[in-house]
Amino acid sequence: MAWSPDKTEVKSWNEWDTLRHVIVGRADDCHIPPEEPALDAKVPEDSDMRGQWGRRPQETIDRANELLDNFADQLRKRSVRVDRPVSIDHSQPVATPDFHTDSQFGCMPPRDVLLTVGHEMLEATMSYRCRWFEYLNYRPLLKQYWEEDPNFRHEAAPKPRLTDADYNPDYLSEKIGDAQRLEWAAEKFFVTTEEEPLFDAADVLRFGKDLVVQHGFTTNLKGIEWLRRHFPDHRVHTVNFPGDPYPIHIDATFTPLRPGLILNNPQRRLPEEQRGMFEKNGWEIVDAAQPAHNTPPPLCYSSTWLSMNVLVLDPKTVCVEKSEVYQAEQMDELGMEVVEVELRDAYAFGGGLHCCTADVYRDGDCEDYFP
Ligand code: NVA
Repeated sequence: MAWSPDKTEVKSWNEWDTLRHVIVGRADDCHIPPEEPALDAKVPEDSDMRGQWGRRPQETIDRANELLDNFADQLRKRSVRVDRPVSIDHSQPVATPDFHTDSQFGCMPPRDVLLTVGHEMLEATMSYRCRWFEYLNYRPLLKQYWEEDPNFRHEAAPKPRLTDADYNPDYLSEKIGDAQRLEWAAEKFFVTTEEEPLFDAADVLRFGKDLVVQHGFTTNLKGIEWLRRHFPDHRVHTVNFPGDPYPIHIDATFTPLRPGLILNNPQRRLPEEQRGMFEKNGWEIVDAAQPAHNTPPPLCYSSTWLSMNVLVLDPKTVCVEKSEVYQAEQMDELGMEVVEVELRDAYAFGGGLHCCTADVYRDGDCEDYFP
């Protein structure tokens, strides 16, 4: 049955079929959380964020919200239904019997927390203590979907304990250096241990019957095994990008645009031995264009490669950040219509156009692209 804006239905099997309904995050009350093991390992050693924490400056919150609101309006004008989460109070500490941290993270970005696979939305375990309760920002929406769509499956992965046993102490030193980090990444030695299953939703890409999952700082092998058992009708593939000294979240590294075509970060190429399923099925993996910026904006966790963190609206149309002119040019050469969206001043809140959204409904069914 064709999608109707008057009826809520959750369904999305991949990253590219026509987008009809989406969640766009909010910058409300976002915080820079205090130090904690998994977060410290991710904050670049030369970052302006090291050593500071607290609520983000109000003018940056207002500016990010302005951009996110504009993005939501742009999508609505293209007939996409857009829902927004309800921010909780992120100044509250997180305390469990196992750990305590003095503040939370924010209501951004939804893609990190929510994984939509078919008719299911799965709340990820997360691996940062400050993000333990982040799913609560989305509960009003998920409650609504559950009440309105009888086929919607609302699932939550087991909450992790996040004791010190979850983190490799070698990663906790102030100065490690990129050479050492790259060596460790090549050995698949990451900050998270194999104490218990851990994954962030943003380490997963959906290709119909296949899920491609990055093993790195925020997702461990047990997390991938948990996904494998949870989705028994899918094939779950583990990938690594050894060129990345801070491997978290796959969506500034590997970006499927349509069946048969993926952009890959040229500094984080998929190793030859992991390319088999794509090559055998005639998929092309092309180097993404260079970012337009040499540095991320202030107080930003992410790299300049948010340039390739695009949102595909359908197999011929893609949202690209307005200042990312090289990425837009490449999309044009690849035959995609580009929708420019201004978002750079919201990057600091956790990512780009793909990150700040979570799929609710895309057309299409669960296809096997890698028979
Ligand atoms: N590892 C990523 C996260 C972006 C979504 C980066 O390049 O910063």
